[in-house]
Amino acid sequence: MKLPATEEGQLLRRQVRAASTWNNLAGPGVVAMGDFDLGSSFIPALHKPAALLPITKHHDSLLYLIEKYPVTIVVGQTGSGKTTQIPQFLEHAGWCAGGKLVGVTQPRRVAATTVAVRVAEEYGCELGKEVGYSIRFEDVTSAATRIKFLTDGLLIREALVDPLLSRYSVIMVDEAHERSISTDILLGLLKKIRRRRPELRIIISSATLQAEEFLKFFSETPDDKELVESNDNQSGAIISLKGRTYPVDVLYLEYPAEDYVEKAVSTVFDIHNSEQAGDILVFLTGREEIDAVVQSIAERSVDLQPGAQSLLPLPLYAGLTTEQQMYVFDAPSENTRKVIVSTNIAEASVTIDGIVYVIDSGFVKLRAFDPKTGIESLTVTPVSKASAAQRAGRAGRTKPGKCFRLFTEDAYKHLPDINPPEIQRSNLAPFILQLKALGIDNVVRFEYLTPPPSELMVKAMELLYALGALDEYSKLTRPLGMRMAELAVEPMMAKTLLSASSFDCISEILTIAAMTSLGGSIWVQQDGGKKQIESSRRKFAAEEGDHLTLLNVYQAFITKGKKEARFCHDNNINFKALTRAVSIRGQLKSYLERFGISVDESLKASSEGKADQVRRCLTAGYFAHAARMQPDGSYRNVEGGTILYAHPSSLMFNRKAEWVIFHEVMETGNKTFIRDITKIEKAWLLDYSSGFYQTKPR
Ligand code: CDP
Ligand code: MG
Repeated sequence: MKLPATEEGQLLRRQVRAASTWNNLAGPGVVAMGDFDLGSSFIPALHKPAALLPITKHHDSLLYLIEKYPVTIVVGQTGSGKTTQIPQFLEHAGWCAGGKLVGVTQPRRVAATTVAVRVAEEYGCELGKEVGYSIRFEDVTSAATRIKFLTDGLLIREALVDPLLSRYSVIMVDEAHERSISTDILLGLLKKIRRRRPELRIIISSATLQAEEFLKFFSETPDDKELVESNDNQSGAIISLKGRTYPVDVLYLEYPAEDYVEKAVSTVFDIHNSEQAGDILVFLTGREEIDAVVQSIAERSVDLQPGAQSLLPLPLYAGLTTEQQMYVFDAPSENTRKVIVSTNIAEASVTIDGIVYVIDSGFVKLRAFDPKTGIESLTVTPVSKASAAQRAGRAGRTKPGKCFRLFTEDAYKHLPDINPPEIQRSNLAPFILQLKALGIDNVVRFEYLTPPPSELMVKAMELLYALGALDEYSKLTRPLGMRMAELAVEPMMAKTLLSASSFDCISEILTIAAMTSLGGSIWVQQDGGKKQIESSRRKFAAEEGDHLTLLNVYQAFITKGKKEARFCHDNNINFKALTRAVSIRGQLKSYLERFGISVDESLKASSEGKADQVRRCLTAGYFAHAARMQPDGSYRNVEGGTILYAHPSSLMFNRKAEWVIFHEVMETGNKTFIRDITKIEKAWLLDYSSGFYQTKPR
């Protein structure tokens, strides 16, 4: 491999080489670290003393392995410094010479942003300069960027324009053990790219021991034997960073809890009243639960003894803005105990110092796809034993801790060891579309770490065919299929957007696409509570359903909210979310313009006829998500017949509509809820679904 051009780079790399000669004695392959210390002469100057992190003493060995092997697997406990330090080590060692990038992928947006903020701070640069991040609809990088954090989904998307990812000298796939579907697809792609770019360095970081499996995946090259033979050494190595951890006492409930949300709150107060100092981390499944718990803790804290240590509850989930997420890292003020109420994010992706107590609900929201109904939802599922162990471990990072499991020891014994990877339980349509767009026509033969079940493949192909993205030979259609792959929204929304000009409602659909891509709520709760949101929502309500209501909110924001300071406050509208919608809309619009689709914004007036066109257009994209109302007010999914309920946050909750299409599905308890619902006509389903329903044997 060529040495980087800059003098500084060369110098550092040569020093690393010298150290490596010694290191070589350990032999290639699996190197057990922790037994020796090569000193810390290369540690970058940091704002905080990172020298205490377990990774510090592995600096030289890490750089040596990365230089020597195309693939390095780093196994280490959460908090050892993998995510924040490795990219900085690499940058300092010259891996960014010649304008190359070190890319670090994360399965979660929250992790990509918070970690970038932290590394920029340590590096001593403004965010977006040398250190930046890029997530869907938000690119905080510049020409100066050397270390780039991004979601793995976004890196796959980058491959559409730069198939060999040639801007990157090193790609670190972080949290690979989580086995998100994007991580799995990315690993397959990197394996392909590696054959064409032997100089590319791939680092896979994992919190638990799946290392051998990753290494094996990259070592096997069935259709490329030559490469194996010409390589006298192995193609990869595993390095294990032994960090220090403290014992964690695990406590179980004697009897199952009736309501783990309520139990979580009471456990927080039990800890606060009877345990020693130390912050608390609570694992719940999603935003609604977390907001409820944060509020409940805040309300009940009022009753604490005057002068007693106070409680500071803080939420942590993906829908929060970056600033809101950063609060959890701040040290609490004097005489205050921090309580972080989080989704699975805090299990491994994000490390928060000072946690001594963990409360584990025992549940997590996981993606689940039912090939019979074609419905993908987030479903509350019991955690795996591996997750439970990981969660407990969050308590023992700085001193001995305690983990309160809100389930019985017997229930624990029945938990699965690990959860199946996401690729085996997801809607594959977006990924198949992307693989096809990357020129991988035979998606069945793509090298998957774990191949997805064939029925999921078939289902995805069927949908893509009905959407017009694939032809009868399963080839990507042009321009439609190619454009659908390029648009940064899921295939059904992509089809809706690309159909909008023929329904003469492109401006409206752009807005709807932006508003449904937000990921967080457009409403904010103020002192008036949930009721007030309800009445605000009613002000903007459109008879036809949620999508047109979203359109009304956006229009009002554009005409009034941006200028009048009180408008958003008075209407419980989330100013930040709407500002983001404006930006997303602009980005989607420029995609369309690049495709040569002109967007005429002058025809704003939303007449009666417009609403009709919008609903028809939505049907052209969302026909696979159609449902019919039952006499009892619930809905039945047209395909597969699952019983669905309008979510209380939907305008269609408790309203009548015979046929509807919906955007999103979520499961809570034993009920399946749908959100973002719009009334349609049955005839449209047949008109706009390219035979999707006729071809199904009934
Ligand atoms: O990736 P890994 O879990 O090995 O650790 P990391 O994310 O690199 O974090 C290393 C240390 O940096 C943590 O133990 C925290 O002390 C600190 N950190 C922080 O204070 N704030 C952040 N936003 C990220 C990390
Ligand atoms: Mg990490």
